[in-house]
Amino acid sequence: MSEKATLNVGGKSYEFDVITGSENETCIDIQNLRKESGIITMDPGFGNTGSCYSSITYVDGAKGILKYRGYPIEEVAAKASFTETAYLILYGELPNPQELRKFSARLKEHAPLHTNLEHHFSGFPREAPPMAILSAMLNLVSCFHPEVLEVPTTGEEFDRTASLLLSKVRTISAFAYRMAAGKPINHPNPNLSYCGNFLHMMFSDPHQEYEVSPVVDRALNLFLILHADHEQNCSTSTVRVVGSSRANLFSSISAGVCALWGPLHGGANTAVMMMLEDIKNSGRPLRYYLDKAKDKNDPFKLMGFGHRVYKNFDPRALILKEQVHQVQKALNIQDNLLDVALELEEFILKDDYFISRNLYPNVDFYSGILLRAIGIPLKMYTVMFAIGRMPGWIANWKELHDHNQRISRPRQIYTGETTRSFVPLTER
Ligand code: ACO
Repeated sequence: MSEKATLNVGGKSYEFDVITGSENETCIDIQNLRKESGIITMDPGFGNTGSCYSSITYVDGAKGILKYRGYPIEEVAAKASFTETAYLILYGELPNPQELRKFSARLKEHAPLHTNLEHHFSGFPREAPPMAILSAMLNLVSCFHPEVLEVPTTGEEFDRTASLLLSKVRTISAFAYRMAAGKPINHPNPNLSYCGNFLHMMFSDPHQEYEVSPVVDRALNLFLILHADHEQNCSTSTVRVVGSSRANLFSSISAGVCALWGPLHGGANTAVMMMLEDIKNSGRPLRYYLDKAKDKNDPFKLMGFGHRVYKNFDPRALILKEQVHQVQKALNIQDNLLDVALELEEFILKDDYFISRNLYPNVDFYSGILLRAIGIPLKMYTVMFAIGRMPGWIANWKELHDHNQRISRPRQIYTGETTRSFVPLTER
């Protein structure tokens, strides 16, 4: 007999199924709680709420485990390309050579933007944030491909749309950067790899083709792989919530980009670098920043530390830290922001406030230093995260539809005024 959980409220007893996931995670299925009792649960920030069943990514925050479709992140990071990882996340299996060739060919085919779409870039002000451009342009792409507004979640049509999005996000991001920098755009080169093509569109000049170094290519692949999915985080949940109204894939993902933008989520990679710069330039001791972060009356937080799920270590941060060292050595780079970061991490790992709250470096702590080492401008850091997260967003949108999930509609506890009589304007 399956296990049950019992809730006693107001002298009545209610029974609920206890569900176990494939990695033995346990949850109480309260789907019928309100129907049976009129009671709801309260969980602001959803820290204790399972919002869906998913077979894409598994995270064990206590043990620092992350797996994509059952494959440990350490193995995927060491052995896969981003394209292969995207395929795995989207379709659930590693591609065979023929499947990977076909998938890569589709990505190449969809890399160019419609000429009319290109013109829209010039309508943005020079200082427009690239995340705003990315979100707007992703919605706009669907206007130029009306067939993608009705995307089934299986078959040829889905395959085409998923690879179109994965490919176009890279072109849009590179074009947004070129426009903001006042430089002419570089059209995609079908002879280059996914990452090589992005680097070419970012950095080639009319008279000098950017030469893609294998070290940089590998580092970029790794960065994107580590960001490819992370179960029900803020932006992925946003994609699912928007998608649950049966909004199309493009608008759902465009909303995900906006959710990612915030400094507590994907925007943290930019905020970390600004914080490290500030620490370096201020000449103040690290203790000053630690005390600020601990002060409840001060909104300052140590960016790149803490995580809703990881309460031991973030495996992605460990991989990135190692990669930063490798890339800096291979490219002969000396970055004193890395020294600041290492010193800060050392301080924090010994500090009782951070130890007692399980605050460790998260993926964003070292990702900015890696991006800086491979020449990506600061303004583009969160956009880079968005390119990486695209397979996860698409796979979650697909899964939501495959499971025919109900529209998302949480409840609330009302704390406002009870009934009042309306007073006409003349009497107020
Ligand atoms: N600096 C100082 N104190 C912190 C930090 C931090 N970075 N993070 C958490 N805390 C404190 C909280 O104030 C809280 O203290 P309290 O118990 O005395 O009230 C305690 O640690 C527990 O933190 P929560 O608020 O429960 O953490 P939550 O899960 O709500 O937030 C988050 C997680 C948003 C990541 C938070 O740790 C944070 O703001 N970190 C900095 C921003 C950042 O790096 N974001 C990127 C996250 S990774 C990603 O999204 C890709």
